[in-house]
Amino acid sequence: MRIDIVTIFPEFFSVLDVSLLGRARQSGIIDLGVHDLRDYAYDRHRTVDDTPYGGGAGMVMRPEPWGDAIDGILYASEGRGIVDPVILFPSPAGELFTQSLAQQLSTEQQLVFGCGRYEGIDQRVVDYAATRARVKLVSMGDYVLNGGEVATMAMIEAIGRLIPGVIGNPASLVEESHSDGLLEYPSYTKPATWRGLAVPPVLMGGNHGAIAAWRREQQLERTRRVRPDLLPPE
Ligand code: ADE
Repeated sequence: MRIDIVTIFPEFFSVLDVSLLGRARQSGIIDLGVHDLRDYAYDRHRTVDDTPYGGGAGMVMRPEPWGDAIDGILYASEGRGIVDPVILFPSPAGELFTQSLAQQLSTEQQLVFGCGRYEGIDQRVVDYAATRARVKLVSMGDYVLNGGEVATMAMIEAIGRLIPGVIGNPASLVEESHSDGLLEYPSYTKPATWRGLAVPPVLMGGNHGAIAAWRREQQLERTRRVRPDLLPPE
């Protein structure tokens, strides 16, 4: 998968050199391009924002650098033979980013992340991008971040680990929170007793049917307790 990121903080994404995603990049499963929006600014101060039309607090990102950055990325994509990229703008006003959306996006050829700062990006950037590619505004949840960078990192991690070959043991993707609509069951390892706390005996009995039933019950209990919204209406 090709991933492009447009940001005014390119150094933020140096963490993508390490860990599972770093290895996926080295092995060529993920091909990453990080673009400094200021390289596309029009003035020598490399300005990328301005005051909002209609007034109000804060600054809005100007459309021209964004337009040029998007054009450059899509031009390079054509050269790479990529046909139908997806451009994602992290925004608290977007659709909620879920495991199911991560699954869908993990099958794409190319994802472009546009990280807005300040009070947002001029709306015409999103409208223009939608004339060139499939576009989505995506939110990490009902809270406000300072910009799209942290949201982009989270999305790349959630999507990247679903790409075949990124995680060594694909079975570990099957039994985890949200993969079947429920929260994950609790896990234990050795020692059998630690600081007076014992591992549930069912896990040590070797009865696989009983273990599966216990784990299912734990999933349901946890989900009922902390995330009843995930359960179907009774
Ligand atoms: N940018 C600012 N807040 C955000 C959020 N909650 N999700 C995605 N992008 C954001």
